[in-house]
Amino acid sequence: MKKVILLTSIIMFSTVSWAKTGAEVYAQACQMCHAAGIAGAPKTGDKKAWKARLDKGTSSLLTSIKKGKGAMPPGAMCPTCSDAEYKAAIQYMSKK
Ligand code: HEC
Repeated sequence: MKKVILLTSIIMFSTVSWAKTGAEVYAQACQMCHAAGIAGAPKTGDKKAWKARLDKGTSSLLTSIKKGKGAMPPGAMCPTCSDAEYKAAIQYMSKK
């Protein structure tokens, strides 16, 4: 009986998806384009490029991410990300 409980809790624990940090989202989904500024993507750490984008407001940027923009596909390679996770990734890229 103990074994069954232990096994169930391991399965439950591993399927819970914890909110990712900006650095984690970035490494998994955004880095491939934004690290080198591929196809006109605002480059990570390029404060000037990011300021121009951030000035449009967070909700406008979230819309761009969800709908896609230019060479960035809808969902920006992280279809399961929450708004909070996208925002954390934007913060990470713009301030790094
Ligand atoms: C396949 C490449 C690619 C990936 C992956 C990618 N981006 Fe982008 N991103 C771009 C490109 C290209 C642009 C510039 C689009 C334009 O302005 O034409 C862009 C622009 C943006 C902008 C500015 C949008 C605007 O309205 O000006 C934000 C914010 C952004 N990306 C966030 C992210 C986040 C967060 C991730 C990861 C979850 C991500 N991107 C992943 C290519 C990518």
